[in-house]
Amino acid sequence: MSNPLRPQRPRRLRQFPAVRRLVAQTRLHPAELVLPVFVREGIDDPQPIEAMPGVVQHTMDSLVAEAHRCVEAGLGGIMLFGVPESKDAVGSGADADDGILNVGLRAVREAVFDDLVVMADLCLDEFTDHGHCGVLDPEGRVDNDATLDRYASMALAQARAGAHVLGLSGMMDGQVAHVRTALDEAGFTDTIILAYAAKYTSALYGPFREAVQSSLVGDRATYQQDPANAIEALRELELDLAEGADIVMVKPAQTHLDIIALAAERSSVPVAAYQISGEYSQIKAAAERGWIDGDRAVLESLLHIRRAGAQIILTYSALDVAARLL
Ligand code: PBG
Repeated sequence: MSNPLRPQRPRRLRQFPAVRRLVAQTRLHPAELVLPVFVREGIDDPQPIEAMPGVVQHTMDSLVAEAHRCVEAGLGGIMLFGVPESKDAVGSGADADDGILNVGLRAVREAVFDDLVVMADLCLDEFTDHGHCGVLDPEGRVDNDATLDRYASMALAQARAGAHVLGLSGMMDGQVAHVRTALDEAGFTDTIILAYAAKYTSALYGPFREAVQSSLVGDRATYQQDPANAIEALRELELDLAEGADIVMVKPAQTHLDIIALAAERSSVPVAAYQISGEYSQIKAAAERGWIDGDRAVLESLLHIRRAGAQIILTYSALDVAARLL
């Protein structure tokens, strides 16, 4: 036993960078980072997103260039979101083969082939004129079961366009099983499903609304999870695993580290976390004012998410961070 009169010295292992590096329990690596990107229909030049400094709505050309940068940086993947020129009640652009997201997927897949995991957001909100993640019933409520058929159709369009991974982000009950069945029946047995298992409603999605020019009024509290609840996340997780999810995700990330830890403990498949638009923009905004060191804050935030147990992290900072990890 150590002599209680002699102080223990945990600081010995913190003295200089090399020893800190030696004992670091958590590391960040480009291969576990995924860059979310926006591709917008009908523009000639990339359009800056005011609420997300450094992030743009891409043209097809700039999207492909960005995908090449992701490969060069050794990133794990790229997640595409489409911003269509016109929207309607059922989100017709989502499953049209010439819809902007599907055209973008095809272009990216052609450019990177299998050198980068190509992911597609599978949700209707970017494509609906009311901005909800599903179709509405006559009373204006999101119709869960009618939405499932739209998702199945979207899944097939995205699989045809070459997406390796479909990111089911709509939080409809039964969406994983419904999409898995549709994919399998059409022969897309290899298409990977990343399920947003625990997706919490949040004010931090704000900047994303600008990014996809959402017309949503109100919130998504009737289908996304209530931040007051933790146990409910286990149920969502178990359902998605039972329905065949290949990867599960928790979102937002840094405000739900407890849920990430819970998922990492219980999940039999890899756990991802999404550092969402508002998480990104808060750091950027404070850094622009000189209140915090933005570069350090981003690295720290990703380390926290990693330490909580997320194996894969979606972050708008993926390229910036990868360059600094080398
Ligand atoms: C749904 C979807 C959203 C995000 C990812 N997928 C919007 C929402 O749920 O409101 C948000 C991502 C972010 O804020 O960075 N298509």
